[in-house]
Amino acid sequence: MIPPKTVRDILDAVRIEEVVEDFVTLRKRGVNLLGLCPFHNEKTPSFNVSPARNIFKCFGCGKGGDAVTFLMEHESFTYPDALRWLARKYNIEIEEVERTPEQIAEIQFSDSLYIVNDFGLRHFQEQLFDTDEGKSVALSYFKQRGLREETIRAFGLGYAPDLRDLLVQRAKAAGHSLDLLKKVGLCSADGTRDFFRGRVMFAIHNMSGKVAAFAGRTMSSDKTIPKYINSPETEIYVKNKTLYGAFQAKKAIRKQDECILVEGYMDVISLYQAGIENVVASSGTSLTEGQLQLIKRNTANLKILYDGDPAGIKAALRGLDLALEQDLNVKIVLLPNGEDPDSFVQKIGSEAFGEFIVKQAKDFILFKTQLLLQETQGDPIKKSALIKDIMGSIAKIPDPIKRGVYLKECATLLDASEEVLYAETNKMITAGLRKKAEKESRQPGAASDSPAAHPSPDMLEPNIAVSVRERPAQQGDEYKERHIIELLVKFGGSVLQNENISVAEYILTDIEESLNAFDNSLYGRIAQECYALLLDHKVVTQEHFLRHESKEIHDLAVDILADSSRWEYSPNWEKKGFPLQNQPLPEFNFDKETREGVDRFRLSKLDKLCKSINPARIKTADEAGDLINLERFMRIQKKVQEARNDLAKRLGRVVI
Ligand code: UTP
Ligand code: MN
Repeated sequence: MIPPKTVRDILDAVRIEEVVEDFVTLRKRGVNLLGLCPFHNEKTPSFNVSPARNIFKCFGCGKGGDAVTFLMEHESFTYPDALRWLARKYNIEIEEVERTPEQIAEIQFSDSLYIVNDFGLRHFQEQLFDTDEGKSVALSYFKQRGLREETIRAFGLGYAPDLRDLLVQRAKAAGHSLDLLKKVGLCSADGTRDFFRGRVMFAIHNMSGKVAAFAGRTMSSDKTIPKYINSPETEIYVKNKTLYGAFQAKKAIRKQDECILVEGYMDVISLYQAGIENVVASSGTSLTEGQLQLIKRNTANLKILYDGDPAGIKAALRGLDLALEQDLNVKIVLLPNGEDPDSFVQKIGSEAFGEFIVKQAKDFILFKTQLLLQETQGDPIKKSALIKDIMGSIAKIPDPIKRGVYLKECATLLDASEEVLYAETNKMITAGLRKKAEKESRQPGAASDSPAAHPSPDMLEPNIAVSVRERPAQQGDEYKERHIIELLVKFGGSVLQNENISVAEYILTDIEESLNAFDNSLYGRIAQECYALLLDHKVVTQEHFLRHESKEIHDLAVDILADSSRWEYSPNWEKKGFPLQNQPLPEFNFDKETREGVDRFRLSKLDKLCKSINPARIKTADEAGDLINLERFMRIQKKVQEARNDLAKRLGRVVI
């Protein structure tokens, strides 16, 4: 137990920004600091840190609290562990009172896994540094590979002698449970043998420096033995969310605003020793989304070092579209034939290596284009496949300006017309979005978790003029439906100035015909319920939603209402001694909001009618030779189109 006085000392010393900055890159924004939220996936920062109040708050996902909460959430620490972590950071000594057996029992499962791994780490290190065999076999191996002792220690390298059950015996003697040893994979399933034998050991750390897993490398060059064997996945080791070296590299990645990615454990260690510290490895597999998110939290710039043959590189490039989707700027460096980062840096030295990777870095898209172009020479079919491939990559880039720049450059490289490339990418973007929308509609709730599902009104319509429709109809409808529901929840009972009716009445009577046509069933349910209230001569109030018996509706209402008051404040208040406080947005002009919201909603329903539903009916009637219906549907189509265009004009949109 940590004595209360020490707890106070710790809490007094803590600066929220110093703690958060160990995990998240923050930039100054007024008196606050702003960064990408580590608790949900986002592309534009909504994670706020207030040094004045010593707290953090994310407006994307709603998480907030003090430094202790942050650590408990981010590192899955228990409360005491968060305090211990802070005490270490601020050099505060904790004189812990002995733990009771109950408290020991309370230690979380994951904590106990870390404890066993920590025992393993110390065991392997002891075998490496303090035994004759370790020194002569393993330490000399590392040294012969060019590693210095400080590097060996910094990366938690060790040695597992070729003995049947040395670790198992020692762990048991030290009171560790065999079950936990099995669980983290340090021994065989029956608990009789050590898992790592006759190998040099690599500790795999999590982001806060705890040992999550191990890898063991054979020192033999016998090709029939697996070079590396690894710990199994556990609660504390999720491979596709782990980047080797990330703990050691974290600070440097932020400082350099760049992350260097290599393939192997040895590459990371070797570069780090050479002073190139912002380097991580994906451990021989292609990058996963989880790993990319880890990188994205620290920098938007990724530089990938490749060794090997063009065929292998081509395969690797395919996986990189995922990085573009995360809006990372990706650069590629090809190492000279036969060299990997480790061998090359040892050969030419750190300075020359540093210059090499700056000079040789090529933009990923342009690199890919050039690489593939070499193979298409004079073959138009291959070339058109190549164009599709490249445009597929470009379509993944979320930033339209960036996309435009690439299209221009690629048009030159590929000797193709820019318009054709534009059209091709736009087609792919639309197809991609449609797929995504279909996927999201199949898993309800998934869409509303992402901040993009709560666009501001001016985001509701993509720029039609550029002919790049960023969102397909289905998804667009959900935004508009969401907007309608937001208006109902926020202002349902308010009275519109010139009509003398409530917002709810205005909206619902205007969209009566579409009450059954909501794409999002939750939104549809709410709209119908409000309609029923009105028929019952009841007023639609915020309380109605906030006290709703359906948790789904309650949560949505909280979400909508919380979103309308932002967490901003005037820097001057602080100078005048006012504490930070909520400052609601200037009062919404719900008159205008409501009318436009309804118009947009109707426009999208009309759009659907005249672009898909009606044409399909016309087609069916036509094919069946049903002239009466054909004529009828064509007449309806004309009317719908007129209504649609009128509305669009009213909304100031381009009529197409
Ligand atoms: P490498 O063979 O390039 O390993 O595999 P390396 O780290 O450079 O090791 P040295 O230089 O030969 O000592 C790249 C990565 O692929 C994974 C490891 O993460 C390795 O670092 N790998 C490779 C395995 O997991 N198992 C293997 O059998 C081989
Ligand atoms: Mn290597």
